[in-house]
Amino acid sequence: MPTHDLVVVANRLPVDAHTEPDGSVRWVTSPGGLVTAMESVMRGVDSGAWVGWAGSPGEAPEPFEADGMQLYPVDLSAEEVRAYYEGFSNGTLWPLYHDVIADPVFHRTWWDTYREVNERFATAAAQVASPGATVWVHDYQLQLVPTMIRTQRPDLRIGFFNHIPFPPFELFAQLPKRNQVLRGLLGADLVGFQRERDALNFLTCVRQLLGHAHSHHDITVPGIGSEPARTVTARAFPISIDTQAVSALAEDPEVIERARELRRELGDPKKVVVGVDRLDYTKGIRHRLKAWGELLNDGAIDPHDAILVQVATPSRERVDAYRQLRDEVELTVGRINGDFAPIGRPAISYMHRSFDRREMTALYRAADVVLVTALRDGMNLVAKEYVASRPDEQGVLVLSEFAGAADELRAAILVNPHDIDELKTAILHALAMPEDEQRTAMQSLRRQVLDNDVQGWAQSFLGELEAKGRPDEPAAAP
Ligand code: ADP
Ligand code: F6P
Repeated sequence: MPTHDLVVVANRLPVDAHTEPDGSVRWVTSPGGLVTAMESVMRGVDSGAWVGWAGSPGEAPEPFEADGMQLYPVDLSAEEVRAYYEGFSNGTLWPLYHDVIADPVFHRTWWDTYREVNERFATAAAQVASPGATVWVHDYQLQLVPTMIRTQRPDLRIGFFNHIPFPPFELFAQLPKRNQVLRGLLGADLVGFQRERDALNFLTCVRQLLGHAHSHHDITVPGIGSEPARTVTARAFPISIDTQAVSALAEDPEVIERARELRRELGDPKKVVVGVDRLDYTKGIRHRLKAWGELLNDGAIDPHDAILVQVATPSRERVDAYRQLRDEVELTVGRINGDFAPIGRPAISYMHRSFDRREMTALYRAADVVLVTALRDGMNLVAKEYVASRPDEQGVLVLSEFAGAADELRAAILVNPHDIDELKTAILHALAMPEDEQRTAMQSLRRQVLDNDVQGWAQSFLGELEAKGRPDEPAAAP
């Protein structure tokens, strides 16, 4: 079995296998911010490996190479997809970790499968890691993996990064099996979070529920039996985007021309307002549509002058809350268009599908305003992509205070999306903002995003992990 010095473990591989009607397999980029970020990090790594699921139930494809990286597919049966992915990951953890915007559901059988599947990912990673290698585990679907890997391979350095929020103690304490989850995470040497608040929530949970003391960000985890105690560090590493790649696309003359063409195709309105999200109830799409519908109804927006373009990537389509969201969003878009669209052109242009990076960048370049109205979001890369796509220093970002990105992108128009009146005011403010004011805000936003890219994020995480030394070495002096 080949071995690797850096092994990424995530629920999804960077590509999903789609089976065509003729039985052939087509590989497409997987959805979500984790893949957007880690794909570009791994492109710069020699002989890296990525362990993950190929996105369909059944037997996993054989390991294969893509973009100089070795991909190791892990298989999930249809029942495991239901209990581990749709169940415990996205029916229990996802809503609980996102402020219970939807009701978390818990079944003991889901937990059993979550444990079994986590063990499978851990074994797959342990088998391909070279002696003393670094294994980097990602996200809430795999919280038990760090300790499971440590048990199989005590020689490895183990990092864990949580891409979504970590909830406050009062919410986390509701999770059945909460202590097992914390013990799973504490198998890592370094546990990374998007925001300082997430790290503090985690430290509080560890102290309150397991009784482990911490000094600042370092937790002392007592050894079992004669084992020595270990120090686990938990702190924030705000994720970012491949700024250079996005900037290069944004400067590409064909992309700039495509942005002009998009505006023509939309009927050359004075203002183009854009939303780009996975179709997820955490993204605040319903709140955004409500605000837009009311602004049209109030006569504050003329549908001949302004259009809302909403791109919604299909997501978790067999989970009830997502089905219900899709029905509601599509009903609302239909109603608003029925009530307000001029002949031959919509008031809201809605697309329920994915587009390639060039098209997304052209859309960002065509957008006078981007609305990020998440009710809770770990980071939100769309906000950063928009900023990196505007070398012309024009455009306005309306950003929810409840997205991790709001900690950094202070020059955006920050909103509480639960307050529809505030959201309406923010949209009108963005639409009316003069060019010089747009430029000042965009310059400040761009400094933040250009100075902090995803490569820097990965270096900082892996650098800190390395500085902690190998499990069998004394830790490096601070
Ligand atoms: P999440 O990880 O919750 O999906 P993020 O905003 O952090 O949210 O990341 C979403 C990523 O998916 C971004 O890189 C964004 O450009 C991409 N994306 C979202 N919707 C689409 C779409 N319809 N087509 C292509 N890419 C999309
Ligand atoms: O970044 C959050 C995240 O949930 C990732 O963990 C996940 O891979 C992505 O969004 C998309 O969700 P899913 O893998 O369930 O389609």
